[in-house]
Amino acid sequence: MSELEGKVAIITGAGRGLGREEALDLARHGVRVVINDIDLPGAKEAAHSTADEIRSDGGEAHVVLGDCADTNDANALMKKTFEKFGDLNIMVNNAGFVKDKTIFSMSDEEFDSVVRVHLRGHFVNMRNAMNYWRGKVKAGETVYGRLISTSSEAAIYGSAGQPNYASAKAGIVAMTMGAAQLMVSYGVTCNVIMPRAETDMTMSGATAEMFKAPEKGFHYFDAANVAPLVTYLSSEPAAKISGEVFIVWGNQINVLQRPKVLPAHVNPAGATKWSQANLHESLSTHFDDDYRSVRDGYSMPIGRV
Ligand SMILES: NC(=O)c1ccc[n+]([C@@H]2O[C@H](COP(=O)([O-])OP(=O)(O)OC[C@H]3O[C@@H](n4cnc5c(N)ncnc54)[C@H](O)[C@@H]3O)[C@@H](O)[C@H]2O)c1
Repeated sequence: MSELEGKVAIITGAGRGLGREEALDLARHGVRVVINDIDLPGAKEAAHSTADEIRSDGGEAHVVLGDCADTNDANALMKKTFEKFGDLNIMVNNAGFVKDKTIFSMSDEEFDSVVRVHLRGHFVNMRNAMNYWRGKVKAGETVYGRLISTSSEAAIYGSAGQPNYASAKAGIVAMTMGAAQLMVSYGVTCNVIMPRAETDMTMSGATAEMFKAPEKGFHYFDAANVAPLVTYLSSEPAAKISGEVFIVWGNQINVLQRPKVLPAHVNPAGATKWSQANLHESLSTHFDDDYRSVRDGYSMPIGRV
């Protein structure tokens, strides 16, 4: 019997793609799963199909439709989870969509809607799960809590064609790191995955060709390859892992190192406000003749810069 047997998970956006695979994998390990997806044609049927597959494999699943970024829907998701399964142990924030354009031509709506579904979508569900777990600890009850957020490598590569998405995904990392700090004393872990997979989201665009299934051999970008890490982070053996970010795809996982803050540039004039000359004298030791703009900057290099 799996040590996850009987635990309760919510997975947002679990009708399709990564969320679906994560729900299936958790259920295979005995977790009772609540499948959330948006209440729209296509998504609704997809959510029920994930639940049906889990049930036909002998697992337990319940569908709760709703917008992951809407507070009322998120509250209803919690309420219906308790009504059905009586607890919540694992909150996987996964749902989202993209509307890619460069910042030159992106509309306010394209920016707001993508930030909303990802960043606010994580926030409202995270708030509910964290308050529930903290409340249990305060009531003297034992708590088993695992929060898993879904970011993207777009957050670290700059992703020039996704100013909305990359910002939201960077925000998700920051939000989850804060959550991890708040929850560590309650024994609740909070981690972030940055997956790569062939899904509806990546069927067109820059990665479409790369993510395609090969004619034969291992399909590195099968969404099912990401799910075991989510199950692992949800499990007892991962109890001490929190405040971490993982790139995950195929048969590999990269643990991200924390950003490195280089030694401070201190005003050569001493304890005084910078002058332009002092700033240039000090910073030009870093931005020297070998320095290459943007490529040597904060974001990781990708493609032609
Ligand atoms: N596929 C990749 O390579 C990749 C890479 C990095 C990050 N991600 C992230 O992984 C997550 C899952 O993406 P995917 O590739 O499986 O995409 P997908 O399009 O296959 O699945 C996303 C699911 O979210 C649902 N959804 C959309 N808006 C929703 C809302 N408001 N409320 C509830 N559900 C909603 C969709 O209906 C769909 O079922 C996303 O957060 C995505 O940004 C994916």
